[in-house]
Amino acid sequence: MARLTILEHREIADNMRWLAFEAPHDLQYEPGQFLHIRVTDGVDHLLRRPISLCRVDGGRNALVVAYRVGGKGTKLLAAKNVGDTLDVLGPLGKGFPLHDEDRHAILVGGGIGVPPMVELADQLTQRGVQVTTIVGFQSKNVSILIDELTRYGEVLVATNDGSLGLQGFVTDYMTDELLASADRFYACGPTPMLRAVQARMTGRVEGYLSLEERMGCGIGACMACVTSCVLPDGSVGFKKVCKDGPVFPAPEVYF
Ligand code: FES
Repeated sequence: MARLTILEHREIADNMRWLAFEAPHDLQYEPGQFLHIRVTDGVDHLLRRPISLCRVDGGRNALVVAYRVGGKGTKLLAAKNVGDTLDVLGPLGKGFPLHDEDRHAILVGGGIGVPPMVELADQLTQRGVQVTTIVGFQSKNVSILIDELTRYGEVLVATNDGSLGLQGFVTDYMTDELLASADRFYACGPTPMLRAVQARMTGRVEGYLSLEERMGCGIGACMACVTSCVLPDGSVGFKKVCKDGPVFPAPEVYF
């Protein structure tokens, strides 16, 4: 646990904010891990909010997350200013594994599942992996991080209402030709998107799904984040998203 100082905090789309902290010196992290940030109004004892790590900027010694302002907790977070400190746990959980043999990876992000793709794209391209990123949003006014992702390779955009990129879903970009060229996929986003990606990729490309789940403790102690999973013997069991995930091999996730 640490109290981290806010270096930058700004809106990047409607109700979407970019928040950079001063990074601890000895920070160990993987793309796909999350920070568990405590927010309180000083009266209620609010839970922590899990927010995916978006980027670690070594040059500025900064740790960046991007989040959607929705409920009471994130509204309190949005009111924090540069120079304020926040109680932050993490980075926590299991992130996206990288594979030395890969040459081309497909990254898929939907809505608030897009931020972890930035650090992942950075680490993959540093290893010489070609990255194709597919992102999906409800509409243009909530689209985020497209410019950041474009630094690492081609970015294909889909919106539900057609206000930016293709009108449709991220899976509409997943042609047989694209999938045949990929060694791996990585996806993070809402459950319907992950279910569709899993169905399209099964038997074609191996990869990982990062689950978005409501959390309590964030460290495996409370069972608030339990999800159904396929166990090694083929039966369905349960795993904790905060500790066993949030990233799981795609065949393990049971929808
Ligand atoms: Fe408590 Fe996962 S959030 S066990």
